[in-house]
Amino acid sequence: MPVLLEAKNISKSYQGKNRLFGGSLVKVLHDVSLQLQAGEILAIVGESGSGKSTLARQLVMLEQPDSGEILLDGKPFQSVTAIHRQVRMIFQNPAASLDPRKRVYQLLEQPLLNLTGLSGSEREELIYRTLDQVGLNNDQASYYPHMFSGGQRQRIAIARALILNPQVIVSDEAVSALDVSVQAQILNLVMDLRDQIGMSWLFITHDISVVNVIAERVLVLYAGRVMESGPVKEVLENPAHPYTQRLLQSVPGAGDSDRLVAVVQMIPAAEAQAMEYTGCAYRHRCLLADQQCVKSEPPMISLAGRSVACFRAKSML
Ligand SMILES: Nc1ncnc2c1ncn2[C@@H]1O[C@H](COP(=O)(O)OP(=O)(O)OP(=O)(O)O)[C@@H](O)[C@H]1O
Ligand code: SF4
Ligand SMILES: [Mg+2]
Repeated sequence: MPVLLEAKNISKSYQGKNRLFGGSLVKVLHDVSLQLQAGEILAIVGESGSGKSTLARQLVMLEQPDSGEILLDGKPFQSVTAIHRQVRMIFQNPAASLDPRKRVYQLLEQPLLNLTGLSGSEREELIYRTLDQVGLNNDQASYYPHMFSGGQRQRIAIARALILNPQVIVSDEAVSALDVSVQAQILNLVMDLRDQIGMSWLFITHDISVVNVIAERVLVLYAGRVMESGPVKEVLENPAHPYTQRLLQSVPGAGDSDRLVAVVQMIPAAEAQAMEYTGCAYRHRCLLADQQCVKSEPPMISLAGRSVACFRAKSML
């Protein structure tokens, strides 16, 4: 499959503002690279503070990376307007991202007014068609966001992303706030839309059990670095990185197709970021760490169908 969205060596630092970082510049993303293929769902998984949302903001051009390159269809990002049309973002909390004073119709019309030259009747047709695609009816176009359940509000957020017919949707914890049964409905909707429309989806989550259900490929982030990435089947059934193994140990029955309940154990990645260290970012928590891991950073290598950054990866398989 051709590569649609590609990030090459993205790095990003922020001015630290909490006690741990002491006000100095904190590097949150370290040379992160990824490839999103046409028509696939790629999951990005990592615990709180691993840099998932920061990466998403760079990919949709809400922020500029300090270094690195992002390509869409092999070309560098040209203009913010073009990217905002082609790469759409869905946020975790639809209640916060949907203006409570606007009716659904206006919420869906807004991106069309901002970014297209469609006529009123063309906009109307598209709004009703998109509502139908996400399982909402025409009458609901006149409702306000507070009149919907959490799952329905996430459907509105998905409709707002879809309406511009983007090439890529980036969703950041799109189902995390929902009950498990509603999560399943939204995950099914995402998979149906991908099958019907064929857009690519970058699905960010801290819940590795969701990855199993929805994605073809997965990228595991820890402390702003890619630890392992590859097809879900290979990575989750036979992880080559100690951190991926640790994530999976917290999920009972991982590998089953059933909806799994446990969520990634939280390891304070921010703590790891704040420490001054050389070598592997995961070495402070890794039971296999030795002198080599302290001295140098493991390079990303290709191994058994995936990419992995660990000196001991071969012995894991
Ligand atoms: N604008 C900012 N200024 C300073 N620090 C920031 C900023 N944005 C993010 N960070 C820091 O960068 C790190 C990564 O944050 P980010 O929100 O990308 O993580 P995340 O993986 O999305 O976490 P979560 O699962 O909690 O959403 C955190 O330590 C966070 O405090
Ligand atoms: S490189 Fe060393 S410290 Fe890092 S994950 Fe591998 S074994 Fe552990
Ligand atoms: Mg986040």
